[in-house]
Amino acid sequence: MNGKAQPSIASPARSDPPIVIEGLCNSFGGNVIHDNLSLTVDRGEILGVVGGSGTGKSVLMRSIIGLQIPDEGSIEVLGRSITDAEEDEDIDIRSRWGVLFQGGALFSTLTVAENVEVPLLEFYPEIASELRHEIARFKVMLSGLPEDASSKFPAELSGGMRKRAGLARALALDPELLFLDEPTAGLDPIGAAAFDRLIKELQDTLGLTVFLITHDLDTLYEICDRVAVLAEKRVIAVGTIPELLALDHPWIQEYFNGPRGRAARSAQAGASQKRTGKMDNPAGRGA
Ligand SMILES: Nc1ncnc2c1ncn2[C@@H]1O[C@H](COP(=O)(O)OP(=O)(O)OP(=O)(O)O)[C@@H](O)[C@H]1O
Ligand SMILES: [Mg+2]
Repeated sequence: MNGKAQPSIASPARSDPPIVIEGLCNSFGGNVIHDNLSLTVDRGEILGVVGGSGTGKSVLMRSIIGLQIPDEGSIEVLGRSITDAEEDEDIDIRSRWGVLFQGGALFSTLTVAENVEVPLLEFYPEIASELRHEIARFKVMLSGLPEDASSKFPAELSGGMRKRAGLARALALDPELLFLDEPTAGLDPIGAAAFDRLIKELQDTLGLTVFLITHDLDTLYEICDRVAVLAEKRVIAVGTIPELLALDHPWIQEYFNGPRGRAARSAQAGASQKRTGKMDNPAGRGA
């Protein structure tokens, strides 16, 4: 037209935030958990979600994936309303995310590979069993488990391996969105650091958007692009850790500037120095 190169225009659907929550209210009986909570998750980011125990992080995640019907408010995921979803839309949207629940939630009577095959069978029953087995094997390896883990039952795995098996199942359908509820809880510091690196690699290579609930300060420092703070029944702040540190809120200050927060910060500063120097030391983790 005017001879100038046209700017590349991303389709609106690709650049829109994948999760938009507005005015969310949840309660159980008279117990109000969320009151007018709003949050937007940007495409391609790892958003850490923090808050005291019982502040409603898991309930928030369950609301986003449609397992908890809110009292009020709207939730849009990948451009679809979760709060007003029709049955068939619901099926379609659920195939575009993967979830690692807080307790792992693997089926104990199924092997690791069979667990990974569950969503494949549910959403793509037409896939031939050989191909389904092959996809499951690939996801198990992608999650950093040895190949022989595929035929094991959850009870035969260590806690860290169970987390990876849960991750393999969450990745079964090549999701655009990954929900992780306390993925490193209970892992030793080296195992937790390795899990963090795996999540970061998946974000980089698969372009995933990750909603990551955690109490793990090292995880927040190492891999989260932004952090959302849940307190007072809503998201009181969202930003990078330096942005949050600049806020004068007692819970945020205590969390990030308390002894554990300071230890995580200096561990990360030390690891960055080593990376630019000689080597990374995941054992530096653990406040
Ligand atoms: N199905 C339910 N019925 C009744 N109350 C519930 C239900 N699920 C959650 N709650 C309550 O909602 C509140 C928030 O729970 P939630 O599991 O979201 O906390 P959390 O922030 O994830 O905590 P943690 O860090 O310990 O995992 C808690 O008081 C919990 O008892
Ligand atoms: Mg929880």
